Amino acid sequence: MPNIVIAGAQWGDEGKGKIVDLLTARVQVVARYNGGHNAGHTVIVEGRKFVLHLIPAGILHPGILCVIGNGVVIDPAALERETGELRELGVEIGDNLVISDRAHLILPHHRALEALSEDQRGSRKIGTTLRGIGPAYEDKAGRRGIAMGDLLRPSVLPAKLAEARRHYEEVLRGAGRAPDVDWDALVTELAAFGERHRARIVDVSLVLHRHLAEGYSVLFEGAQATLLDLDHGTYPFVTCSAAAAGGASTGTGVPPSRIDGVLGVAKAYCTRVGTGPFPTEIEGEAEDSLRSRGSEYGATTGRPRRCGWFDAVAARYAVRINGFDTVALTKLDVLDELESVPVGTGYRFEGRTLEEFPSDVSILEECEPVYEVLPGWRASTLGVRDWAELPEAARRYVDRLSELIGAEIGVVSTGPDREETIVRGNSALASWFA
Ligand code: IMP
Repeated sequence: MPNIVIAGAQWGDEGKGKIVDLLTARVQVVARYNGGHNAGHTVIVEGRKFVLHLIPAGILHPGILCVIGNGVVIDPAALERETGELRELGVEIGDNLVISDRAHLILPHHRALEALSEDQRGSRKIGTTLRGIGPAYEDKAGRRGIAMGDLLRPSVLPAKLAEARRHYEEVLRGAGRAPDVDWDALVTELAAFGERHRARIVDVSLVLHRHLAEGYSVLFEGAQATLLDLDHGTYPFVTCSAAAAGGASTGTGVPPSRIDGVLGVAKAYCTRVGTGPFPTEIEGEAEDSLRSRGSEYGATTGRPRRCGWFDAVAARYAVRINGFDTVALTKLDVLDELESVPVGTGYRFEGRTLEEFPSDVSILEECEPVYEVLPGWRASTLGVRDWAELPEAARRYVDRLSELIGAEIGVVSTGPDREETIVRGNSALASWFA
């Protein structure tokens, strides 16, 4: 198979884990390129549920090399918890998992800084996952971060931590709070963590380069999604990493010229966790019903997700940013009972209709969606594996979304299991599989 990036087209939780899992059977390497344990991929394999946060979903397939790229941030405790949980479920984790020596660490002071920053924002808080993600990327960009490779030379750790410590203490004292990180204990813990993982801390760009040179295929796995991307999302209500497809290159050290295609994952409706604008958000009974039919609760935080209709303006924007060759539309079955299904096709703003997604969040916050209402199908699509077996109105819904976003919808997911999937015969995906 060619080398493909999988990226989310909305605000995350589109069901990327399942699509990654589906494609993994066709590749030899899966490389995660952004984010940290803020992500939560739920994958159901033969009725068994696996929840992954940091480790690529490829780990569930024997013989696949799983790579955590330099664009990812790693909380040592979270990594060890996840490897422990997976091993208890019988998943083998040995030399099939490597981690970039350039991936930065999330340390205890990052969580404290994040809690403070969210407190200080008051009603404008981002609603982050409080995992320390943002401050870890801030330390990286501020050139005071600690990378996995630093753990391999523990003697230099205290000196390297000094800048991060100085910054943290200044911020906390400035806010009238007492810093409470035990830096000596931290050095000891980090050195032990580094020692336990020494064999898998590698130059990921080199490993990937060598695998590509051997003719192996790489699947680049994105976490979060386009509208949460630090550069292209609904800033400042975003995560701090390059979640859109471009991040695959910067987040692994594989040049764009070695990437052959991009698959976007979009849900048949929209959800968002955390605060920030969400033009097609719905309220009341319709939202509750969508949430409960779609089990829309965070895999990482358990938070109820905000729910709304498919937003074709936002999805078309995601098609532009990522260059999706094909889109996997997930959770179609969640809409099965609806008599009609609204789709956002434009935004009303100051008496005009906007057809393009605005960059300015203050404009987006004032936009009212324009809806096209499509007929529902009122029949079960759960587990349908063949396009021709979908009710006609469901096929029309999928085709209309494809027309509105300007990209083919080559995959339709009709249930959580790997098998509950339609791959359309004439799609880019089918040609990649051929
Ligand atoms: P952070 O990534 O914890 O900094 O959170 C920033 C924003 O991204 C918040 O709105 C989070 O709810 C959102 N977010 C982070 N990770 C995910 C995810 O995996 N799915 C959905 N939203 C996420």
